[in-house]
Amino acid sequence: MKKKCYITTPIYYPSGNPHLGHAYCTTMCDIFARYKKNMGVETYFLTGTDEHGQKIENKAKEENITPQEYVDIRADGFKKLWSAMKIDNNDFIRTTEERHMKVVQQVFSRFLKQDDIYLDHYEGWYCTHCESFWTETQATEAHICPDCGRPVHLEKEESYFFRCKKHIDVVNKAFENPEFLTPVSRKNEMINNFIKPGIEDLCVSRTSFKWGIPVLENENHVVYVWLDALVNYISALGYLSNDDSLFKEFWDDDTEIIHVVGADISRFHTIYWPMFLNCLGLRLPDKVFVHGLIMMKDGKMSKSKGNVISPYPLIEKYGVDTVRYYLAREIPFGQNGTFTPQEFVDRINGDLVNNYGNLVSRTLSMITKYFNGVIPSYEKGITAFDKDLEEKIETNINKYIGLMEDLNISDALQVVMDLCMAANKYIEDNKPWELAKDETKVNELKSVMSHLARVILVSTILLKPVLVETFEKTCKSLGLSNNLDMESLKDEHLLDGKIVDKTGVLFPRLNVETEVPYIASLLQGIN
Ligand code: ME8
Repeated sequence: MKKKCYITTPIYYPSGNPHLGHAYCTTMCDIFARYKKNMGVETYFLTGTDEHGQKIENKAKEENITPQEYVDIRADGFKKLWSAMKIDNNDFIRTTEERHMKVVQQVFSRFLKQDDIYLDHYEGWYCTHCESFWTETQATEAHICPDCGRPVHLEKEESYFFRCKKHIDVVNKAFENPEFLTPVSRKNEMINNFIKPGIEDLCVSRTSFKWGIPVLENENHVVYVWLDALVNYISALGYLSNDDSLFKEFWDDDTEIIHVVGADISRFHTIYWPMFLNCLGLRLPDKVFVHGLIMMKDGKMSKSKGNVISPYPLIEKYGVDTVRYYLAREIPFGQNGTFTPQEFVDRINGDLVNNYGNLVSRTLSMITKYFNGVIPSYEKGITAFDKDLEEKIETNINKYIGLMEDLNISDALQVVMDLCMAANKYIEDNKPWELAKDETKVNELKSVMSHLARVILVSTILLKPVLVETFEKTCKSLGLSNNLDMESLKDEHLLDGKIVDKTGVLFPRLNVETEVPYIASLLQGIN
């Protein structure tokens, strides 16, 4: 495992309000960054907004305000949501900030000087929504965008082009590493759809609108939004600036660099970005992880479809931990997941109320009742069921780490739930209420309580990256400070003699009859 980690979300277009789909990707990265910090890895986590381009210029026009006014309002909307979702990012980059624009201009100038960019004419199809160029073949006779299905329009303009053909080797080499693009199915998609048919040089400037970073060498041109956007990953670290200490620290070989993206934009991250980095003489990211999308019954949740859910009412009604947990658990590793109100309620009741929450409250009540709240010391192998639970604890900690390292957060959480389930079963097997009636069984009763307390501690630390508020509450009720991390798990006697404090219910049960219709009603009238 590398000593440091740099993880990034896509920088979102602030062309609407952020919805549960954006929240999913950012929450996943937040959970991963918190997990790495929990493992003692020095971690830097970046998110931000992608504020240039024709789409934003058009949106601002529709609202009769300047593009800058438009993006200022929208970027605040993203920041506000991340704060409500308890996203612990180290920085928030906006591509209209000077610190970013200057770097993009320097990068462009360097590419020009190196003859990686040349001036020519573009004639072809453009999708404003995806800010993507397409050939006649790709756009097909129907003239629609192969990515989003919207109509494309003909563009004819003078443009600078990046010499993709010259740099394709670096992409081929990157793809030889099975870790570079995961899940692996995504790699085949890139190779078959974009690399095998032969790559065209990429148009990297525009003249038909103004809302972009000016090309210093030619005032008629602004930098194409995707070249502008990708550079955020290094400009945010201070690349080519007076203070590049973060860049030196987190874009080096000792850092695991991970970009998390949706499938819609993996092409830009795995084909063009490696070429740009190569021209700058910089190392490539270790991994581009393509996450699944949140779907609704009628397809992808997206602003333009108008089928989006705002996370706010969910956070207000059910608490931020519940929404974070749902997002992290419900969407399977690298696959799409469908949001339905019923599944939201079932997931929360099944995992957080009946399993983890129930285990915590039952255990704390029993320790209070049988031992005046003092946790007995942890001794191994006392009851007939101890050994199995002890093994399960160790195995599941290791399984969890393996899955988290692969960004398989959903299955890692299932491993924690399996442990809680095993502990709930261990209660039924040992029947502590019967042990408590027999004075000769006091050692067994102590063992049951200390084993249960250990499972609570383990699961609470493993869930720490997700359940950020509950973590503090549970630590307090176990008589512990809240500075615990994965290292704390090594001390099996950490809880010996601690005094528990019964807090209220961690997760109240959601009533299916009232909550399912309520959540369904949130689907209407958003944005
Ligand atoms: O593409 N489910 O910005 P964008 C899950 N600015 N994730 C979703 C989602 C959904 N329904 N909808 C969107 C851009 N996303 C560029 C990126 S990066 C240098 C520039 C997430 O606002 C997903 O991660 O269209 C997707 O890739 C990203 O938002 C696209 O955001």
